[in-house]
Amino acid sequence: MAVAAAPPGIRPDYTIDQNWTGYTIEDHRVWRTLYRRQDALLPGRVVPEFLDALHRLDISPDAIPDFRRLTALLEPVTGWRIVAVPGLVPGAIFFEHLANRRFPVTAWIRRPDQMDYLEEPDLFHDLFGHVPLLMNPVFADYMQRYGQAAQRAERQGALDFIGRLYWYTVEFGLMTTPAGLRIFGAGIVSSKGETVWCLDDPSPNRIGFHRERVMRTDYRIDDFQETYFVIDSFAQLFHSIAGDLAPLFAKVAAMPALGAGAVLPTDRVFHRGTGEYHQAKRGSALAGAAKGPPVPSPSLAKG
Ligand SMILES: [Fe+2]
Repeated sequence: MAVAAAPPGIRPDYTIDQNWTGYTIEDHRVWRTLYRRQDALLPGRVVPEFLDALHRLDISPDAIPDFRRLTALLEPVTGWRIVAVPGLVPGAIFFEHLANRRFPVTAWIRRPDQMDYLEEPDLFHDLFGHVPLLMNPVFADYMQRYGQAAQRAERQGALDFIGRLYWYTVEFGLMTTPAGLRIFGAGIVSSKGETVWCLDDPSPNRIGFHRERVMRTDYRIDDFQETYFVIDSFAQLFHSIAGDLAPLFAKVAAMPALGAGAVLPTDRVFHRGTGEYHQAKRGSALAGAAKGPPVPSPSLAKG
């Protein structure tokens, strides 16, 4: 697929310099506030690998991390590097980075008046949400394999399907553990409101991960998810995109898409949601089933 040339001042791969010294006191204060409120909520809610990695990477509330320092700690463990980008990048560029074990992190951080809602990913979402699990060798391999699979999916006209997989795992995934359900998705981990809602609220469905089921399911880009998919392990994710996915894409293309709140008789249901939250909103002209964009690096930072 042809990719538009990068805007002036941006390298062809859309990377830029982080310009760490350019962050203001206010930028660091925003980071600290966001970090502290997530740090207070996440123990007992997020997979233990996340918190462990946060500390091993020396990511702290003190200051916005320097991407070069992060890479120096991350690369020896899993081979991943952090690169700075100005914001959302074209899908093909994003997949190329993932396929080569480079994770693009937005260089700017939200303003103090955007703490609870942001329509595009910023540094806090990309870094705090996504980077820690790149320290996990299996998840790190999944992310690279995802990038390679997405490059093929783009050629096969299957971006919608592979995009849903990213959305429901990398962004909004849950995992079952002996201690109960735990969060691993970056869209949740970086959102104060969804960190609590996705586990505690009776409204959303929590359904066992099944790749074909996920690839058929629309999602919401404008609000909390109606359904969360629950993996058993990162190894399950890794194996879910092994081999040639073309036959799977063809099968999914021949089946009707499923609404974001659908529950099937074949689903492994951890929790059948009441649907109350989204039903209440459906009367409003503002709400509606949203079919997200195929570029799988979006995020909503909801409070
Ligand atoms: Fe994201």
